[in-house]
Amino acid sequence: MQELEQQIDKERLPLHVGVIMDGNGRWAKGQGKPRVFGHHSAVESVRATVEACAELGVKYLTLYAFSTENWDRPQMEVGALMQLLVDTIGSEMKMMLDNGIRLATIGDTDGLPSATREALAFGIEQTSGGEGMTLILALNYSGKWDIARATRQLAREVAAGRLDPDSLDEAALGSRLSTHAYPDPELIIRTSGEHRLSNFFLWQAAYAEFYFSPVFWPDFRKPDLYAAVVDFQQRERRFGKTSEQLKQATNP
Ligand code: IPE
Ligand code: IPE
Ligand code: MG
Repeated sequence: MQELEQQIDKERLPLHVGVIMDGNGRWAKGQGKPRVFGHHSAVESVRATVEACAELGVKYLTLYAFSTENWDRPQMEVGALMQLLVDTIGSEMKMMLDNGIRLATIGDTDGLPSATREALAFGIEQTSGGEGMTLILALNYSGKWDIARATRQLAREVAAGRLDPDSLDEAALGSRLSTHAYPDPELIIRTSGEHRLSNFFLWQAAYAEFYFSPVFWPDFRKPDLYAAVVDFQQRERRFGKTSEQLKQATNP
């Protein structure tokens, strides 16, 4: 663990890391336990990941915690996840304050149960002075929802005569997304061996580096996060250019 962490170049950290936390149900099933046991065990992984990112100096960490599609799960599981959010904000408050974390959310939080909304509002308020990492919980979130909502906002502005349709460009749409205040994710991690976005940051992931871990989320710990960052730092991010161009720019 020590070794992996030491391989990380602190000057070249991903500014924003997104995590698609997946595999809780399969992890629990593998132990003959109910799915919600996996969700409860996952709190440990959330803590380890948040701490590891904050300690490294990552500025933004987004955790995909509940998608717009997750409402289709059994009602009992949805209820357990919503209650777990309430409990976790309470149990992790000290950890967030100790690490200078500022809590934020993206997604249609108006659609969450009132107890969850209240716990989130409390967490956001209590941590508002955090000057370290911003921890963004994606809740009742989906990339399509985000883009549709931004488009609705643009349409309203055009209809009101405040926006010229011809001035509508990528920056205009980007600035109406729920992530407008944050840089795009540079590294997106997905656990449990699945290789898909599942409606996460569709727009924002345009140039993200992807890291897929076979580990089920409840087993994910600091060394797994370090491994993802080390891998990220070994990639050549070309942004459409050639490798030669990049080398010229760094060695003029
Ligand atoms: C991730 O684990 C948690 C959420 C999506 C809320 P899953 O519950 O999706 O676990 P698997 O994929 O069924 O194993
Ligand atoms: C993605 O995981 C959503 C979250 C991690 C919140 P899912 O388990 O819901 O994704 P699918 O259904 O396997 O694509
Ligand atoms: Mg899953």
